[in-house]
Amino acid sequence: MIQEKVVSKRFGKVNPLSIDSYIKYDGYKGLEKAVTMHPTQVIDEIEKSKIRGRGGAGFPAHIKARALANAQGPKFIVCNGDEGEPGNFKDRMLMENDPHAVIEGLAILAYATGARKGYIYIRGEYQNAIKIMKATIQAAEEKGFLGENILNKGFDFKLEVRSGAGSYVVGEEFSMIESIEGKPGRSRVKPPFPTDKGIHDRPTLINNVETFVNFPHIILVGGNEFAKVGTPSSTGTKLISLSGNVKNKGLYEVPFGTSIRDVIFQLGKGVRNNRPIKMVQLGGASGPIIPEYMLDMSIDFDRFENFDSKTGTGAIIVIDDRYDIFDILLINMKFFVHQSCGKCAPCREGHIQIVNLLNKFKNHRATEKDLMSLENLANVIQQTSLCGLGQTSMTSIISSLRYFRDDYFTKVRY
Ligand SMILES: Cc1cc2nc3c(=O)[nH]c(=O)nc-3n(C[C@H](O)[C@H](O)[C@H](O)COP(=O)(O)O)c2cc1C
Ligand code: SF4
Repeated sequence: MIQEKVVSKRFGKVNPLSIDSYIKYDGYKGLEKAVTMHPTQVIDEIEKSKIRGRGGAGFPAHIKARALANAQGPKFIVCNGDEGEPGNFKDRMLMENDPHAVIEGLAILAYATGARKGYIYIRGEYQNAIKIMKATIQAAEEKGFLGENILNKGFDFKLEVRSGAGSYVVGEEFSMIESIEGKPGRSRVKPPFPTDKGIHDRPTLINNVETFVNFPHIILVGGNEFAKVGTPSSTGTKLISLSGNVKNKGLYEVPFGTSIRDVIFQLGKGVRNNRPIKMVQLGGASGPIIPEYMLDMSIDFDRFENFDSKTGTGAIIVIDDRYDIFDILLINMKFFVHQSCGKCAPCREGHIQIVNLLNKFKNHRATEKDLMSLENLANVIQQTSLCGLGQTSMTSIISSLRYFRDDYFTKVRY
């Protein structure tokens, strides 16, 4: 079995709506242990675990935690449950199947950093998760795991659920901060970073749902023990949302270092009707498209960094040989045309031009000049967009130009 269950270990075993069921299954033991430690020691354990954020970019969690802990005065913690990246459904599964684990992770970080107020930001489409998380907060407050004087240790932490309204860009941290402040979800120029100036210009830490769910486990087993799973630079396990033309679609949890091929063939049982794989998109619409011969690549942040994108969300979308790469690229790019907030020109105008160029290729009307224009424009959008949306949306185009260049040439009119 290549699966190793840490964050999904309670799925199907606990009743998500029962706090007693969670407590019976080691629930809140991580928080109980954390409050016996000095807050700095809690962050030391997170540092030893070498855990990197599960929201896509793989940023080391202890750096943000320590920055927030060092900040004076009111500060905030946000759990990013927006999950707008197409092909991902791991955070919804965590919130719906083990919601107390999310709360416990947040409470541990609140204790460690001194934050007294937190938000769980959930995309509006996830109505079930929203209901479950609200009920879970109430149950945790009633049992003394949230609210005032938590576990009689004199520390307070209040949590609130906020939800989006169908926008993808609010998953980006500054857009989310604006939305929490009650404004339209539009990004800000960085730096300053959220841990310096976030909600109401106060220090704010944002982590992904899956990142938070790892914290209770890290505190219970210890950072060094946690770091024994995975690879030296990508420790622990990763939830994988497997979809597309695969026989067994679903959510799987594997140690970092597992190959993409093993996930597709051992867990996903291969391609439907045993067709050949044409391409695999990693991470979601803003992730790279890779050919079949690269499937032995391991799931690991260092590998993903080569693509300069949010590949690390853990989505694997399998696409068989019946599909034209231009149809897939057009689906991605039309998504970005729709989701661009319009604040900066490279993203607002650039995606529309990319769609026009891709349509030319799809319809065999493109020239070699169009190929150069596509390549140049993709680089301009990536390098000059204001926020992460435009900075990562070109990954599928750039990777397709690298690995599927022949597909472009077959469509060029000479
Ligand atoms: C356009 C865009 C959308 C994003 N959407 C999400 C999202 O839905 N969920 C998420 O956790 N991170 C998302 N991110 C990444 C967040 O900005 C942030 O880096 C992340 O929540 C940090 O958590 P982590 O350190 O635990 O990974 C998005 C980034 C961009 C640029
Ligand atoms: S890159 Fe796109 S989404 Fe981000 S600020 Fe510019 S227009 Fe808005």
